[in-house]
Amino acid sequence: MEVIADISSLRLRLGRESSVALVPTMGGLHEGHLSLVDIARHRADCVVASIFVNRLQFAPTEDFDQYPRNLADDCELLENRGVDVVFAPEEKTLYPVAQEFMLEPPPVADTLEGEFRPGFFRGVATAVLKLFNIVQPQAAVFGKKDYQQLHIVREMVRQLNLPVEIVEGEIIRASDHLALSSRNRYLTERERAEATRLHHVLSQVKQGIANGDRNFHELEENAKGILCGHGWKVDYIAIQQCDTLMPAQVGDENLVILGAAWLGKTRLIDNLEVSATRV
Ligand code: PAF
Repeated sequence: MEVIADISSLRLRLGRESSVALVPTMGGLHEGHLSLVDIARHRADCVVASIFVNRLQFAPTEDFDQYPRNLADDCELLENRGVDVVFAPEEKTLYPVAQEFMLEPPPVADTLEGEFRPGFFRGVATAVLKLFNIVQPQAAVFGKKDYQQLHIVREMVRQLNLPVEIVEGEIIRASDHLALSSRNRYLTERERAEATRLHHVLSQVKQGIANGDRNFHELEENAKGILCGHGWKVDYIAIQQCDTLMPAQVGDENLVILGAAWLGKTRLIDNLEVSATRV
């Protein structure tokens, strides 16, 4: 496995590959990322993982400085998983001048995560577009844990005619169902035990929908109430259509329940898809 930090060396290295699949990451790797590597492996001869903590997608109040950075550990995990090339640029390599040219995502980017993290998807889309231009992969793999990110990246590729296939990876969970996340390592022991409640309330909403309950607002409010009652600060619990990420309407079949909430100083997100076939 080669670890490459500059763009010209990366281009030279990838020039001899017939197909490339990219797994973009911000490091702090866990089994969720590694499962995306496995998917990438089936899509191309050469698997590239990028590691870059993208300042553009962090608000000044967010955890850019604390975000876990351990290139040596990350590279060991990636090498053991059979990655061919790690692209780990310095900030000045990706942003040699202030990045004033930004990609403006569609209005869906101002909802859900975007409502609570203004500018987040502008930063994500701009960085992902740059990574696509630098690596020029045939396929790129994104996890469904960042469900809205996946939706926006797909839409970017579609609306900008980018020659890259977007492939999705399922959420990987701990044995108690907590979705794996780089931010889980911020949790104290007590918070870690409590953290499973987010998945639990989303499962209850899913069960309600599967049982025929279509009072989406009430289902969302109940879930929020349970979390608040256990000390969480809830950003949103929202039942949306899978394809558009617009609020679910009675009669829609493919739904996703998305949640974001704070436990102490840590913000967790999770989601569950549910089929609302008529009962
Ligand atoms: O999901 C992430 O880790 C980041 O948002 C991404 C896609 C690497 C862009 O910085």
